[in-house]
Amino acid sequence: MSATILLLSGPNLNLLGEREPDIYGTESLADHVATALAEAGRHGLGLEAFQSNYEGELIEAIHAARGNHDAIIINAGAFSHTSWAIHDALAAFEGKVVELHLSNPAAREPFRHTSVIAPVADGAIVGFGGLGYALAVDAAARLLTSSKH
Ligand code: DQA
Repeated sequence: MSATILLLSGPNLNLLGEREPDIYGTESLADHVATALAEAGRHGLGLEAFQSNYEGELIEAIHAARGNHDAIIINAGAFSHTSWAIHDALAAFEGKVVELHLSNPAAREPFRHTSVIAPVADGAIVGFGGLGYALAVDAAARLLTSSKH
């Protein structure tokens, strides 16, 4: 069976395309999911996508990924800066974790400079806009390939 990735999107990302397009671009989340699916397909990987504005639903999706997905790509939106509960859920996930942001939080307001997810991620793709979705899938695919050896 081929490996699979869970692409998780947090609060307000359902508004991508309409929300602050100068910062987040004009593509919708569905566009980004399509990009990620195509990239996963190129690597022979499956990909499932889930978005929620609720912290608890994101945590439950991470729990459900245990034993079912090999990697999680997560753009947790503003929860990236606040949610130790998502941090703990990711710490309990045995697969690879790639943190993703469209913008570069380090170049924005100070409250965005800390990611509480970063300590439990293998790495982060930030600041590349929509291109980040393909880059994040590529990163996850490479991590999964290298961890087989
Ligand atoms: C974001 C950056 C976060 O600071 C912000 O709260 C978001 C989007 C990004 O993709 O750039 O909602 O995660």
